[in-house]
Amino acid sequence: MDIFKDRIFAGKTVFVAGGSSGINLGIAQRFAEFGARVGLISRTQDRVAAAARTIADAGGEAMGMAADVRDYDAVAAAFAAVKDSYGDIDIVISGAAGNFLAPVVGMSSNAFKTVIDIDLLGTFNVLRASYDFIRKPGASIISITAGQAVRPVMFQAHAGAAKAGINNLTQCLAMEWGPAGIRVNAISPGPIGHTEGMARLAPSEEATRALKSKIPLRDYGTKRDIADLALFLCSDNAKYITGAIIDCDGGSVLGDASADALSVRPRG
Ligand code: HXC
Ligand code: NAP
Repeated sequence: MDIFKDRIFAGKTVFVAGGSSGINLGIAQRFAEFGARVGLISRTQDRVAAAARTIADAGGEAMGMAADVRDYDAVAAAFAAVKDSYGDIDIVISGAAGNFLAPVVGMSSNAFKTVIDIDLLGTFNVLRASYDFIRKPGASIISITAGQAVRPVMFQAHAGAAKAGINNLTQCLAMEWGPAGIRVNAISPGPIGHTEGMARLAPSEEATRALKSKIPLRDYGTKRDIADLALFLCSDNAKYITGAIIDCDGGSVLGDASADALSVRPRG
């Protein structure tokens, strides 16, 4: 089967947490293009409704509801509403996140907790609540993590710790839910262009240029790069993959590949 040719997700239902913008909306749009019905949640009714309209305007089917991932009951109610409208949920994308640059001494306990609550507790809430609404066997779940989970980055202690927790939770659930025929994986995007994340982490042209010079592939990725990996991971072509944390990052997580990183210049 050519996953990039057929409408292989026709008749499937996808639930996207944090789907009002950015990478997660890009994933939702791509699934809709391939025939899936999509339920989106984010904190803000206006933003999530606008995102659902974008998908409908492009010929897809989508519904958007306000639900804060820190509120378990609100998340469970959103799953119930999507299941009521579209049937059993086949695919869950957990990508709600909050982030800002701050050194540890520049953040309060509440600042650290806020990011842990949105990213890590939020992912727990989405994945835990999903269990009662997903197709068993057959469902595929993807958490959105980041390279900061395995390669610490200064001023990102809160997000790195949260994403490290997401990696462990994802792999633990792959073991617990595998026997029920549920696959649980994570995608770890590198720097992705035209996103809120990169607007916050590399807010100037100078910072962007400096960051790109360190990436092995020397450029940011696109939302489409991440969405296509999600399509693959949720397709039958990936039916034996679970517990994987897959980097889509131009090699970023490997380290600094800038010319300046070499203190000794080899010949040639
Ligand atoms: C230090 C800060 C801060 C900053 C907020 N806080 N911004 N501390 N430096 N720049 C502190 C506040 O002072 C407060 O602590 C606490 O954090 C909570 O702030 P609130 O504004 O009350 O929280 P809330 O309204 O829940 O908003 C959450 C948010 C916000 C994360 C702070 O930025 C947000 O809504 N973000 C969502 C969008 C987003 O971040 N997208 C990018 C995701 S990208 P006190 O002590 O004063 O009460 C991403 C990149 C991935 O994740 C790569 C890395 C892993
Ligand atoms: P984004 O557009 O800000 O996406 C974050 C989404 O989460 C928004 O839709 C936001 O919508 C929602 N959200 C935030 N807090 C929420 C909450 N408490 N409850 C429910 N929804 C909430 O940022 P992005 O850059 O595309 O990032 C998307 C994902 O990719 C995140 O998991 C991020 O960590 C990951 N990532 C991004 C990059 C990058 O280069 N951008 C790199 C690595 C990993 P509302 O504001 O409407 O609630």
